[in-house]
Amino acid sequence: MSPPTPAIGTIRVFDTPATLAESGAKFLCDRAERSRGRFVVNLSGGSTPKRLYEALAVPTLLKRFPWDRTHFVFGDERFVPPDDPDSNAHMATEALFARAPVPPDNIHRVPTVGVTPEQAAEEYQRTLVWLYGGDVLVPDRPLFDVTFLGVGDDGHTASLIPGQPVLHERTRWVAPVAHGRPEVRITMTYPALESSRAVVFLLTGEGKRAILDRLLSGDDTVPAGKLRPHGETLWFADRAAAGRWAG
Ligand code: 6PG
Repeated sequence: MSPPTPAIGTIRVFDTPATLAESGAKFLCDRAERSRGRFVVNLSGGSTPKRLYEALAVPTLLKRFPWDRTHFVFGDERFVPPDDPDSNAHMATEALFARAPVPPDNIHRVPTVGVTPEQAAEEYQRTLVWLYGGDVLVPDRPLFDVTFLGVGDDGHTASLIPGQPVLHERTRWVAPVAHGRPEVRITMTYPALESSRAVVFLLTGEGKRAILDRLLSGDDTVPAGKLRPHGETLWFADRAAAGRWAG
């Protein structure tokens, strides 16, 4: 029997987390190579994305990737110092930036030192407005070329955490999330995340099977299920997470 069709987007299933990471890195490299001008990648935190960033830092891709014209931003960040092991920017630095020739000015970290969470969100929004070249998002001119997102067991994505007021934010592009996690988070909101040419959700392991099944079935009661990207939606899952969707 052929596998069911996702309610939104397309699913690609890989045998293992390692093959998913390699294919995800190649996917990004292909998109970047085919693009013209500035290429903007929106990074996520989490363990699955980390493997993909490491997979980008291999000799073949290091050589091919247009590092000079690629900019990196973060879909969410924990409000901790930049060298804290919980910092998403720290993770990306270890996995990718320390190994790839990314111009330092092309890495846009969420400020977390010497500012309040509210100021950090405002400052980061200004960075995004600068990158976009305007403060009104136009559907056919996305803010990001590729947005990578993880999904938690509770259906959160980026730091769009169930029950938090940020889920209703339609004006700001970036907002602080003061509750729901041990530390304050700074997250992009739906309007910003949706302004992507491609959103790629990354899920691996059996623990993600139930939430992935709900999302692919069209469950829009959890934060990840409410996202409606203007461009493509892709689900990259390993066999363990894909379950019945693997075919
Ligand atoms: C973070 C995130 C978060 C993450 C999911 C999935 O900073 O933690 O951006 O949304 O992507 O919790 O994380 P895993 O891939 O580690 O399960």
